[in-house]
Amino acid sequence: AHQWRGIIEEYRDRLPVHEGTPVVSLREGGTPLVPAQVLSERTGCEVHLKVEGANPTGSFKDRGMTMAITEAKEAGAKAVICASTGNTSASAAAYAVRAGMVCAVLVPQGKIALGKMGQALVHGARILQVDGNFDDCLTLARGLSENYPVALVNSVNPARIEGQKTAAFEIVDALGDAPDIHVLPVGNAGNITAYWRGYREYAADAVASRTPRMWGFQASGSAPIVRGEVVKDPHTIATAIRIGNPASWNLAEQARDESGGLIDAVTDRQILAAYRLLAAQEGVFVEPASAASVAGLLSAAEQGKVDPGQRIVCTVTGNGLKDPDWAVAGAPQPVTVPVDADAAARRLGLA
Ligand code: F0G
Repeated sequence: AHQWRGIIEEYRDRLPVHEGTPVVSLREGGTPLVPAQVLSERTGCEVHLKVEGANPTGSFKDRGMTMAITEAKEAGAKAVICASTGNTSASAAAYAVRAGMVCAVLVPQGKIALGKMGQALVHGARILQVDGNFDDCLTLARGLSENYPVALVNSVNPARIEGQKTAAFEIVDALGDAPDIHVLPVGNAGNITAYWRGYREYAADAVASRTPRMWGFQASGSAPIVRGEVVKDPHTIATAIRIGNPASWNLAEQARDESGGLIDAVTDRQILAAYRLLAAQEGVFVEPASAASVAGLLSAAEQGKVDPGQRIVCTVTGNGLKDPDWAVAGAPQPVTVPVDADAAARRLGLA
């Protein structure tokens, strides 16, 4: 019986590990690439969803975290720290448990989804809510890692990018080649950087015949790359990507320009529409930030910017269970019935 061994063992020769490296893994990666029927019909393309919510802690962060925590472990670190809009902290907390390390997390006060906070708590992280936004948290985390014995595991740590590039490998391995377009939500811009590195690496080694165009989408209230300037007070309902000064800004622009791609903005309304479409019509429940990729694709298609017949992969980055408030909000309240088959049948429209 064979089971997926986690991204480090599966892609060992393409990652910065060697024989004696103490691999810290929850068998992350190996996530489903799901054909998206409704999105394919709407765009006239062959659209797939890379469902990263299927990772052990429910987001793509696990790919980077297995590498970052493994490296920290190898270097003898006893404690790690990160700034986070929620998913990085959930992942860091879980992998720190595996590694027997202390995990400290800095999150923007009141702006992270409950499920993510619950994860960090139950995994025993030391949590500080910062009276500021994600960008302030990252500044603080960087400073602490420079002055205290604690390793920074945000995506400014190169190990994170190395781990996350494996998602591009999996897609090429599954499809037999790179897609024409790869679509991602963009927050701190580490993931678009990582995918681009993965695709380039496979093309350079002729595992793939080409690289895709990289399309990134920010939330319109948090779209510094699109606007070309830092957003001091970013806002969006997609709290995971509520970021005004992305750490990998330049690298994201490089991915866009080298691939002939684009980075654009989608409104919260478009994000929520895509969120509902994914759940109600594709059967895939993601968190709001994840739907920014699909919202961007649909918006581009409506503007006639998507030529039919292309193969397109959208990464949906996190599990919908992390932030269920948006699933419940605006939905009709379930009705209550007595323990009575006739009453239940009537309410269900069966009788
Ligand atoms: N989608 C989700 C669900 C995320 O949690 C993030 C980032 C992104 C997309 C954007 O990815 O930052 O690499 O451009 N979340 C970080 C965190 C910031 O702290 O969990 P990015």
